[in-house]
Amino acid sequence: MDSIIVKGGAELRGQIPIAGAKNACLTLMPATLLSDEPLTLTNAPRLSDIRTMTQLLSSLGAEVAQLQGGQVLAMSSHDLTNHTADYDIVRKMRASILVLGPMLARDGHAIVSLPGGCAIGARPVDLHLKALEAMGAELELRDGYVHARAPHDGRGRALRGAVVDFPLVSVGATENALMAATLAHGTTELRNAAREPEIVDLARCLRAMGAQIEGEGTSTITIQGVERLHGATHPVVTDRIELGTYMLAPAICGGEVECLGGRIDLVGAFCEKLDAAGVSVEETDVGLRVSRRNGRVDAVDVTTEPFPGFPTDLQAQMMALLCTANGVSVLEEKIFENRFMHAPELMRMGAKIDVHGGHATVTGVERLKGARVMATDLRASVSLILAGLAAEGETVVSRVYHLDRGYEKVEEKLGAVGAQIERVQGE
Ligand code: EPZ
Repeated sequence: MDSIIVKGGAELRGQIPIAGAKNACLTLMPATLLSDEPLTLTNAPRLSDIRTMTQLLSSLGAEVAQLQGGQVLAMSSHDLTNHTADYDIVRKMRASILVLGPMLARDGHAIVSLPGGCAIGARPVDLHLKALEAMGAELELRDGYVHARAPHDGRGRALRGAVVDFPLVSVGATENALMAATLAHGTTELRNAAREPEIVDLARCLRAMGAQIEGEGTSTITIQGVERLHGATHPVVTDRIELGTYMLAPAICGGEVECLGGRIDLVGAFCEKLDAAGVSVEETDVGLRVSRRNGRVDAVDVTTEPFPGFPTDLQAQMMALLCTANGVSVLEEKIFENRFMHAPELMRMGAKIDVHGGHATVTGVERLKGARVMATDLRASVSLILAGLAAEGETVVSRVYHLDRGYEKVEEKLGAVGAQIERVQGE
């Protein structure tokens, strides 16, 4: 397993290109299952999660060609030869559940392994299943798999339009229901739907394929089902989580960095917190330029919420910054039940953090100290890299396979702006 070594202290200067969004691409790729015509995605990120989704779609009989080094995904699912998403693939990546809605909507049947939990929480999929049942799906849970069939409507098997009222905001359940509804007979209304930019991007892609959708980006999305969808070419939206992560780099160790492709509307609540902490963000014609106003940022309180609130996927990275802030910050994690695993690792670097349930109280210190630390999940791993940029001495982050799931060549992107960082091949 590879490790990444960071020598702290260098100020950063230069430009960092921001890739297409992992969490948009992971829902855009299953959309190919909705049509027998080709769907091509451009600006796709080159990540291990994308390779896992490629593997899953291929196992169903779809063709996925990775062109231009993986930045273009040319997909076609003319004839699905298999309707079972196997546990061995699904357990590696929870987003695999997003093939359920499209397969069910297009062919009337699907068998998908339950994803199981992950490090940050139980991650149930009950809301995905309830939404599809509301559309008439007959579901049976057997041997760890969901066996799903659409009802017979005399002309074959098809889902029917329905009102789906989500009791809590779920990105994945909104995505599964949105995709399924595009081919259902009649009108579907998704209430308390997720508003994330990745949902808006999915709706734009589906509309390019001929879907009739209104309201994406608001809490109510209305879909008028159509007979079939045609092919399209769609650019993946910029990754707001990679963007926020790299915006924190000059904030934590000084300097000035321009994040290419960054847009304020993708990170509004996050930028408000950066401003309160003393970090300036300036829109340029190619992205967002970030620097800190004083030598040390100020403490701020953070509560994670569904979009447009502060994103849970930036909580670990923000905690790394606040470990070096002047004052005491309280972070409240309201989305997942166990998303402070980066805290004990940051404490090995001298951070002062008290975790009680969903709250972490961080007392900022002048300087963190480099140490050997271990990545536990995707966003925790990059928060340790950020802490290493500011720490005195050398930080060695092990198990960086977590990192490679969501960040393209992090050592190259940070190295290009002056960070002293290298990847060491593991045994
Ligand atoms: C998506 O996960 C993202 N993953 C996550 O990013 C992100 O943290 C999360 O949305 C929240 O923004 C992808 O898009 C691939 P949810 P998802 O359904 O869809 C509960 C990363 O680091 N819930 O919005 O799984 C759930 O347990 C990853 O890139 C149910 O109870 O998140 C959680 O507490 C991590 N039942 C809350 O809702 C369900 O059926 C929000 O989960 C579904 C979810």
